[in-house]
Amino acid sequence: MGVMMEQKYLAIIGLIWGDEGKGIIVYSYAESYDVIVRFQGGPNAGHTLHLSSLKQVFHSIPCGALYPSKIIVIAGGCVIDIDKLLAEIESLEKISVYLKDSLKIYGNTTIITDFEITMDVAMENFLSKKGKSIGTTRSGIGDAYANRAYRTAIIAEDLLDMKVLKEKIYALADITNPQLLALGADALDPELVFQKMQSQAEKFCNYIVTNTYLAKLQKEGKNILFEGAQAILLDTLNGSYPYVTSSSPHPGTIGPSCGISTKNIHTIGVAKIYPSRVGEGPFPTQIGGSEEELLRKYGHEYGATTGRARKCGYIDIPLLKYSILVSGVDEIILTCFDTLYKMNKTKICVAYEIDGKRVDIAPGATPRILSNVKPVYEDFSFSKMDISGINSWNDLPEPAKEFIKKVQSYLDIPISKVKTGPDVKDVIDIPQ
Ligand code: IMP
Repeated sequence: MGVMMEQKYLAIIGLIWGDEGKGIIVYSYAESYDVIVRFQGGPNAGHTLHLSSLKQVFHSIPCGALYPSKIIVIAGGCVIDIDKLLAEIESLEKISVYLKDSLKIYGNTTIITDFEITMDVAMENFLSKKGKSIGTTRSGIGDAYANRAYRTAIIAEDLLDMKVLKEKIYALADITNPQLLALGADALDPELVFQKMQSQAEKFCNYIVTNTYLAKLQKEGKNILFEGAQAILLDTLNGSYPYVTSSSPHPGTIGPSCGISTKNIHTIGVAKIYPSRVGEGPFPTQIGGSEEELLRKYGHEYGATTGRARKCGYIDIPLLKYSILVSGVDEIILTCFDTLYKMNKTKICVAYEIDGKRVDIAPGATPRILSNVKPVYEDFSFSKMDISGINSWNDLPEPAKEFIKKVQSYLDIPISKVKTGPDVKDVIDIPQ
C-alpha cells in the first residue's frame, strides 16, 4: 500500500464499534511513513498483527513499531498504564524490537494509576448490580479521562519529579478513596501507589518529550501516520453515549492531542464488513441465534484485550453512512470479507424505518435513536467458495463483486480496498 504525495499526513480510524482490524492496515501503510502516532485511547485497545512468522498484540504502542528506524509517538490525548506499557515494550524486546531511541511519549499524557483502575472496576460492579454497567474493559480509561477533566490526573511529566508525583498521588487519594468506600470497594494506600510509580519512573522517563515534538517534525517535512483506536460509534460525543469509550476516536482529535494543525490530513475509515460489538449498548442489526454463533466462530470474534465474546451483526448501511458523515473520512477500507463470505448467505441493512418512515442514514447514534429503528433488509447469497487470501478483483467470484458494488452504490466516498485475510498481502484494490 504505497503512499501518494497528497497523503503526507494520513489518519486511519475505525468507523463502527472497533475491532475492525485497523492494526494490520496501519502496519501496511507504516512502511511509507517516518513517524507513527497514537492519538487517543489507551490499553483498552487491542490490535493483533498476524504476520507470516509472528502474532503480536499491541495495546498502547502504535503498530508501526515493528519497522526499524521509525519514530513512534504516544501523544497527549492518550491515557497510559505504565505497568502495561513497560510489559508491551518488554514483549517487543523479546522479538528484537527495541524502542529505547524511537519511542516518544508526550509529557502531558494522562497516566492511569491504580486509583483509576480500581474506580473503573468498582463503578462497573456497582452499576452491574442495577443492570446498568457499560461493559468497559476495566482498565481505568474513563476514570483517567475524568480525572483529566477534573484536573486531578497524574501526567507523564510528573514522574520526572518525585516530590510533585508524591503530592499529586496523595491528593488523588484524598478525592478517590471516599468514592471507593462509598461504592463498597477498598481504599488504596497512596504510599504503595507512590512507591510502585517511583520504581517505574527511571525506565519510563527516558521516553518523555514535550508537546511541541510533532509540530517540529512537521516543520522538518516528516511524513506522519496517525493510528486511531476504538471507532466513531464509541466516540464519547458522536457514539452511542453512554455506551462509549471516554475519548474521541474522531480524526479531529489529532489536533489537540498532538499539538498540530489538522489541515491536509487524509483520512481512511476502516469498517469490518459485518459490525461487531463488545460491551453493552444498542446494536440494530445484531444477528442472533446460531447464525451469529457461526459468524463469531468463523471470525474468532473474541476481544483481544478482555477475551469477551463479541456480538455480531449484518452490515448496517445507515450507520456506516452516519459514521462517514460525522467523521469526514475520505475513503473506506472494508475488512474481513473472507469471514463473511464463509456464510452462504447474509443480509444487507439498506435503510431504517423510524416511526413508519424510511430513512437511509441514521439520524444519530444514541440509544434513544438506535433502539427505535427497524432495519430494512435485503437478502444476499454468496457462492460456496473460500475467498481467503484473494488479492485481485478479477479473481473474486461474481457474487463477491456484486456485494461490494452494492455496498459501494449506497456510499458517496470510495471503498478503496477490501481485506480478505489477516496478512498484509490479503487485500484487494477496488477498481474505481
Ligand atoms: P472503556 O474504553 O474500557 O471505558 O470501555 C467502554 C466501551 O468501549 C466498552 O463497550 C468497551 O468494550 C468498548 N471498547 C473500548 N476499547 C475498545 C476497543 O479497542 N475495541 C472495541 N471496543 C472497545
